[in-house]
Amino acid sequence: MNKCLELVNVQSAYGDCKVLFGMSLTINAGEVVTLVGRNGMGKTTTVRSIMGLTPAQSGDITFAGQPIRGMRPEKVAAAGISLVPEGRRIFPNLSVTENLQAFARPGAWTLEKVFEQFPSLARRKANLGNQLSGGEQQMLAIGRALLRNGQLLIIDEATEGLAPLIRQEIWACLKRLKAEGMAILLIDKYLEPLLQIGDRHNVIDRGVVVWSGDSDALRKASDVWEKYVGV
Ligand SMILES: Nc1ncnc2c1ncn2[C@@H]1O[C@H](COP(=O)(O)OP(=O)(O)O)[C@@H](O)[C@H]1O
Ligand SMILES: [Mg+2]
Repeated sequence: MNKCLELVNVQSAYGDCKVLFGMSLTINAGEVVTLVGRNGMGKTTTVRSIMGLTPAQSGDITFAGQPIRGMRPEKVAAAGISLVPEGRRIFPNLSVTENLQAFARPGAWTLEKVFEQFPSLARRKANLGNQLSGGEQQMLAIGRALLRNGQLLIIDEATEGLAPLIRQEIWACLKRLKAEGMAILLIDKYLEPLLQIGDRHNVIDRGVVVWSGDSDALRKASDVWEKYVGV
């Protein structure tokens, strides 16, 4: 299988505060790989290290066969990694359409295709970012990332804080993206949808992967989920 993204022994810190103690994970082309764990364990820092936002201190990060550790964030994005950041970060004073246009790059994903994915967002085209519900903001953040037309989509906290019906809409969208062959690094805390959509799962604890396996293995390892993720 073609490797899309590979992290080997990545270490990262904020100043003197070390957070990642040797993160390793692999995403093959077309795979949905999850990163799960309790708050504060280093999921977002892993994402930030991949994107070059919090440059890793050591280890290897390889994307599409190229080393990307040390690359500036805009270079990483241009190389083809599209991020839906935790907290969504949409522009509050731009309309939905303007938010999307600000990120669009030529490719298969167009504004029309994004609006087909999310009909409820299409109905809010002219509304400003700060007039949207949390779910609409997340659809906008996903649409904006898709418009980058990258080969890997990273979604940090895909459904956090969203109502059940909205969560269903997000999961349905991610399933369609997977069916189209999109590689996805997915961070979330809902076990059942992750088991359904994820090909492989990585459990993080204090900055290192302590368990990894496919959905069958995770389904059987209920102790792992309870100990490191669940309530
Ligand atoms: N900007 C920052 N400066 C200092 N420490 C941070 C910063 N961001 C996160 N941390 C710390 O790094 C650790 C991991 O955080 P994070 O990667 O956000 O975890 P997660 O996404 O798994 O909840 C936490 O202890 C958190 O307090
Ligand atoms: Mg986080």
